Amino acid sequence: MIIIAIIKQKKRLCTAKTRPEHTFILNFRCMKLNIISSESAKAQENKAYALFFVKQSVQFSKVLTEAGSAQVESVLEGMKDGPFEDLELLEIDGDNTLFVDAAKERGLSNLDHLRMAAYRLAGRAMKKQIPCVSIFLADAADEQFKAIVHGLHYANYKFDAYKSKQKPNFQVTYEIIAGEHVAAFKKIAEEVAVEQKAVTLAKNLINTCAADLYPAEFVENAKTIAKYTPGLSIKVRDMKQLEKEGFMGHVTVGKGSSREPYMITLDYKPAKRTSKDHLVIVGKGLTFDTGGLCLKPPKSMPEMISDMSGAATALAAIQAIATLKLPIHVSAVCCLAENAIGNKSVLPGDIFKAKNGKTVMVDNTDAEGRLVLSDGLAEAGEIGATHIVDLATLTGAMVRALGYAVAGFFSNDDDLGLKVINCGEACCEKFWSMPLEEEYADALKDKFADLKNTGSDAGAISAALFLQEFVPENTAWAHWDIAGTAFVDKKWKYTEYGATGFGVQTLIELAREMSSAE
Ligand code: BES
Ligand code: ZN
Ligand code: ZN
Repeated sequence: MIIIAIIKQKKRLCTAKTRPEHTFILNFRCMKLNIISSESAKAQENKAYALFFVKQSVQFSKVLTEAGSAQVESVLEGMKDGPFEDLELLEIDGDNTLFVDAAKERGLSNLDHLRMAAYRLAGRAMKKQIPCVSIFLADAADEQFKAIVHGLHYANYKFDAYKSKQKPNFQVTYEIIAGEHVAAFKKIAEEVAVEQKAVTLAKNLINTCAADLYPAEFVENAKTIAKYTPGLSIKVRDMKQLEKEGFMGHVTVGKGSSREPYMITLDYKPAKRTSKDHLVIVGKGLTFDTGGLCLKPPKSMPEMISDMSGAATALAAIQAIATLKLPIHVSAVCCLAENAIGNKSVLPGDIFKAKNGKTVMVDNTDAEGRLVLSDGLAEAGEIGATHIVDLATLTGAMVRALGYAVAGFFSNDDDLGLKVINCGEACCEKFWSMPLEEEYADALKDKFADLKNTGSDAGAISAALFLQEFVPENTAWAHWDIAGTAFVDKKWKYTEYGATGFGVQTLIELAREMSSAE
């Protein structure tokens, strides 16, 4: 029996202890995972076994006695007669066995079903205080194992920084019986830990309220991350610098707040490159969006702590891409500002000249995301992007069109568009291609300026068409509108409430795919 404990490496990944500042945002809870080739000699007391089933069949095999197999069969057979409670704890072969439904929810892919099954299994194990859960995965494919580990990690996440009493999660050790896959699964588990650390970072940043996470504080977090991530560098521009260099879209939005706007450009250059591409991720980073003078209605305002989801996702993804040492040049531009009301706030009707030289009339101060992003896209061009992905909680129209389960995206490049969909699918993140409909482009024209920041009734398309005006020439570009998917106000999949971390994994997967495609 070979026991490979990967706990040691995982501790190394949890570097929060070595970081003096911002510990609550950079905090990542470690998960205990032992990957072994065959079942250990029941070293743990109160151990439970997990049996994943789909309809009436067990998904992964467990070595059972003849009597045990018969018991399992009769349990599964019994499901035909009536509802069978998911996560039921039964005694099979004298062992506690949790039956986990791996096809419970509607509309999910097989991999996402596994994530959900693992997530619910972990929740039950923590609640029942089961110290060790053993899962037989010797006949699981790599991506199935990956999905299960993601699900276990999601269950470990808790945002309790603002609770006066913090209860630690009950620590469960998951024992994975991996057969011949021990080495491969160990590598996958390490990668998942890096990805989940990034997801946690994005979620912590997004869930932190605007009083504690304003542009300068975001910058401090990003600086700390750059300092502790080998190969990652950071350039910070404050308002004075932005003004000097002509990033007036960004300045126009940020100048109304007592909290100064910043643009940060993170750069990851790998030692070895397998791709000539330079992927630049541009994130909308409104640490709060009051709507400015065209004020938002009170009901939709508290959620605007999440209006920096694009920037948080970009920062988290580049941290993981650099940690995984993916062989592709990747940068991240975070456009950080607060859309506030003050005596310096932009007034409706004001006109500014953006970094790329186009003039814009601010028709509605609540359409601020596209203004900061216009300069973020220009910055992506200045640093030599061949491919740009911008992501933003950009429009309420996208929330109404696709809801919280699907992100709409727009692209000027079919190859990049297809990659977005496929990479999303591999990460259980759904993307839907939307049209850059030229018929609506004229609605962006202004009487005095080149453009205005509102357009036709097709709100999400108008915003995308506006952004397209600022995409550097000959650059493949995709715009993700994550207004619906970034933050949920009720339980959705593995998020109880708040930030979902949507997009982090697809961005990492996209960088992986782009670096292996050539
Ligand atoms: N941040 C909002 C979009 C948003 C809405 C994000 C709901 C998350 C959930 C954005 O800045 C905004 O206010 N957009 C306006 C644009 C309009 C004034 C043209 C909108 O969509 O209503
Ligand atoms: Zn707005
Ligand atoms: Zn906004």
